[in-house]
Amino acid sequence: MSATFIIERLGNRGDGVATAEGDSVYVPYALPGETVQTSSEGERRKLEQVVSASRARIKPICSHFGTCGGCHLQHLERSLYLKWKSRLVEEALEREELELKPEPIIPFGAHERRRVVFTAIRSGAETVLGFSERNTNRVVDISQCPVLLPRIEQALPVVQAIAAHLAPRSGAIKLSVVACDNGLDIAISTGSFTPEEARQKAIGEASDPAIARLTLNDEMLIERRRPLLVIGRALVTPPPGGFVQAVQGAEQAMAALVTKHLFDCKHTADLFSGFGTFALRLAERSTVLAVESDGAALATLVRSWREAGGALKPISTAKRDLFRSPVTAHELKKIEGVVFDPPRGGAQAQATQLAKSGVARIAAVSCNPGSLARDLRILVDSGYRLLSVTPIDQFVFTPHVEAVALLER
Ligand SMILES: C[S@@+](CC[C@H](N)C(=O)[O-])C[C@H]1O[C@@H](n2cnc3c(N)ncnc32)[C@H](O)[C@@H]1O
Repeated sequence: MSATFIIERLGNRGDGVATAEGDSVYVPYALPGETVQTSSEGERRKLEQVVSASRARIKPICSHFGTCGGCHLQHLERSLYLKWKSRLVEEALEREELELKPEPIIPFGAHERRRVVFTAIRSGAETVLGFSERNTNRVVDISQCPVLLPRIEQALPVVQAIAAHLAPRSGAIKLSVVACDNGLDIAISTGSFTPEEARQKAIGEASDPAIARLTLNDEMLIERRRPLLVIGRALVTPPPGGFVQAVQGAEQAMAALVTKHLFDCKHTADLFSGFGTFALRLAERSTVLAVESDGAALATLVRSWREAGGALKPISTAKRDLFRSPVTAHELKKIEGVVFDPPRGGAQAQATQLAKSGVARIAAVSCNPGSLARDLRILVDSGYRLLSVTPIDQFVFTPHVEAVALLER
């Protein structure tokens, strides 16, 4: 059913929000102040036409914007876009009654993302490689993605050619691409047996010297060079398909905030450490306890530390599920500074232990302002002072925002 709305504001997921008979109606790709015509019914509408456009509306940078579900907000003028992102963090703090205005957002832009996971499926004789449509499992075939570093975008035809040999008749495969400092690291996960002929053909497609490593279901197919990331004084070879901060500049900005805050601490802990984005930098000045549930990430951290020779102070590691078994206040007795950087769900159990501890300084890193604010509330209630919260636009054009919060006892 066709209906016309005047958009009042942008919602938390970047949709235009209007009010109809006292209820909120969400219209993707509509901006505040616009009059829009929509089809479909219920709370979520489909934008049919912008009847009168906002002056803040700009031309999206990608030809797939509006069909590909990767980006929600390429059509909003930049200063308003950044204001909306900062507001997501501000509102999360307000909901937990944390009285602190966030620092100015650290912005990033197009052509900066260094880690991406593509989905590929077979559609008849064709292979479709791209990202899911918004709110569906349909994969949008992409010919460009200006969010990515140009060297990943340039490799799209090769990634597509590799996927064409490996995508099974039914089901999807995932292709993770990380632009390491010395070449691309491509890790493919098919979730099923791959016939030898398909495997050999995929290897044949990867002759591009820009590819440093190609793995299939954790098996090495090609290692032209050992892929490397520079993390402080250390060199890291990330585990195939493992977590890497999405934008190098964002990683460096987060690390600078964390290491400055924990500068005077002699003994530190990095919880949810991954391969040591923070631990390897903190170890330039302090001993570090790194705790994480992914064994491959910890093995990488140990290797990087060993290869750094005597340049770093001791790092000890523990493989542990920090949701079920957080590091206890007692275990943190000798630790002066902690950084924790959990997945989107946050670190409630770990924050509860920190709240009981005597740790002097804490840096909380998060990609979810809601769970971050909840964890900060636990710490503030136990006597920590919230010094600053800095939003970082690591995930451009999406409703996701990274933030670093600094606290002291
Ligand atoms: C947002 S990443 C941060 C990693 C690292 N700090 C970095 O910057 O590269 C979150 C990390 O938490 C780890 N993780 C997820 N669930 C966990 C759990 N239950 N216990 C411990 N670590 C977990 C993941 O393996 C991942 O390395």
